[in-house]
Amino acid sequence: MAKVHFEQVSKRFGSGPQAVQALEPISLAIEEGAFTCLLGPSGCGKSTLLNILAGFEHPTSGQVLMDGLRVRGPDSRRGVVFQQGALFTWMNVLDNVAFGPLATGKSAAEAARIAAQYIEMVGLSGFAKRFPYELSGGMQQRVGIARALANSPEILLMDEPFAALDAQTRELLQEEIKRIWHETHKTILWITHSIDEALFLATEVVVMSARPGRIKAKFQPRFAQSNDPAVVASAEFVRMKAEIFGLLREEALTAQRQETER
Ligand SMILES: Nc1ncnc2c1ncn2[C@@H]1O[C@H](COP(=O)(O)OP(=O)(O)O)[C@@H](O)[C@H]1O
Ligand SMILES: [Mg+2]
Repeated sequence: MAKVHFEQVSKRFGSGPQAVQALEPISLAIEEGAFTCLLGPSGCGKSTLLNILAGFEHPTSGQVLMDGLRVRGPDSRRGVVFQQGALFTWMNVLDNVAFGPLATGKSAAEAARIAAQYIEMVGLSGFAKRFPYELSGGMQQRVGIARALANSPEILLMDEPFAALDAQTRELLQEEIKRIWHETHKTILWITHSIDEALFLATEVVVMSARPGRIKAKFQPRFAQSNDPAVVASAEFVRMKAEIFGLLREEALTAQRQETER
């Protein structure tokens, strides 16, 4: 039994001639402990799909099941990490991370203990008393990840979490998130525009078509278990990358045509 089932999930925004069909009926199963990456051109419905699983949006038709139960709204069993940290600017790192545990009724001491544990996991032990504006973009994203983990979600939902970071920071954080995934065994749904990132991290890569989003292809790369950053140079990695690049390029061209025709 999969952890998550998207069952014929479609989404239409608005009505009448202005309506946008964001997703065609999509069915997708996500196994417990899987690291699933969604790739697809801008506007193809990736965020919509993630937001439906998060419970922020409701499908127009179909349903999403988690552990066999229908998703009806946000739930602390699904943690969301946003593209820009979305941290509380007036709280230090410790208080940002402790916020969730406190909100769910933990004592201040217990919340601080949990926060310290995840701050250490993301490599920010020396920065607990700093404020978000004192941190680099990469460090803010680490805090965002620690904050999501502190609520002990079963699934982590991450919508282009590293998109705003420079290439070097991004690569280092990819290794970090892989280590955290190995340590915590969380189920992860991850949106990215980077084929390399998807192949390096994912147990399943789902390539989506241009709007209305459909599943165009699925790949099961074998690099998620490896801690060696050099896997990106292996023949299998390069071959898969070329294949996905071709698929995405077709869809990006379609998406571009859609934009200019509107
Ligand atoms: N709240 C909304 N109202 C109207 N249209 C929306 C809304 N959210 C997304 N859309 C449209 O749905 C399509 C898919 O959006 P989105 O899921 O954000 O794509 P992606 O994340 O793949 O770039 C886009 O055409 C977008 O403009
Ligand atoms: Mg998006």
